[in-house]
Amino acid sequence: MCEPEQEFDRRARTREIQAEFAARGDVLGWFDALYKEAAGDNEKIPWADLEPNRYFRAFAEKTDLRGIGRSALVVGCGLGDDARYLDDLGFKVTAFDISPTAIEWARRLHADRDITFEVMDLFEPYRGWLGGFDFVLEVYTIQPLPLEMRERTIDAVASFVAPGGELVVVTRGREDDEEPDELPWPMSRRELSRFETHGLVQTFFEVMPGDDETPQPRFVAAYKR
Ligand SMILES: C[S@@+](CC[C@H](N)C(=O)[O-])C[C@H]1O[C@@H](n2cnc3c(N)ncnc32)[C@H](O)[C@@H]1O
Repeated sequence: MCEPEQEFDRRARTREIQAEFAARGDVLGWFDALYKEAAGDNEKIPWADLEPNRYFRAFAEKTDLRGIGRSALVVGCGLGDDARYLDDLGFKVTAFDISPTAIEWARRLHADRDITFEVMDLFEPYRGWLGGFDFVLEVYTIQPLPLEMRERTIDAVASFVAPGGELVVVTRGREDDEEPDELPWPMSRRELSRFETHGLVQTFFEVMPGDDETPQPRFVAAYKR
């Protein structure tokens, strides 16, 4: 009798690739390796569902978010679905990711839109981007970077917000005293409070329930500089 074909476990494979790279001291290289290995099949990538993030969408609908021609930057944009949604809302959108494969894929998916997609490392951005955007969106880019890098990562995300500008962060959440064990490493409220050391004032915070596949709660936080 034939054995049933083992179902591909994309989260297990993601953790495996991340661990292989981390063992070599490379904490960023695995993202592009994962996108490359997926070879155009978004189902192989845990976060790539070709839809805007539903928690961000709930925030945008609740707060009646509109771009009105304001500039927006999407940090770690992956396949660009949130960038496309911001374009729908009337923002002038720039989106970046460290993975050249993801950016090439995003450009193909959204070729019908006037969105600027750039290959860029969050930790080495164009100087002109610093303090350069009216609206900055970060969805799930902080949580897959090691906890030891958390403060540096938060500082880098905050650096893009223009005076008077806004930042929205969507992340898995954990209690302050909870030790996260495996990738992705959720954020605590205490960690989030670091954004407020950058002249950002929290204007919104909501805990939303996770989904069947990933039940951890999500934190959605908004800030204004
Ligand atoms: C978990 S994925 C989330 C992607 C997208 N925001 C989404 O929600 O579909 C994290 C993304 O951040 C990107 N990334 C990780 N480190 C980065 C860095 N240092 N600079 C820019 N992008 C980075 C990865 O390539 C990946 O696309």
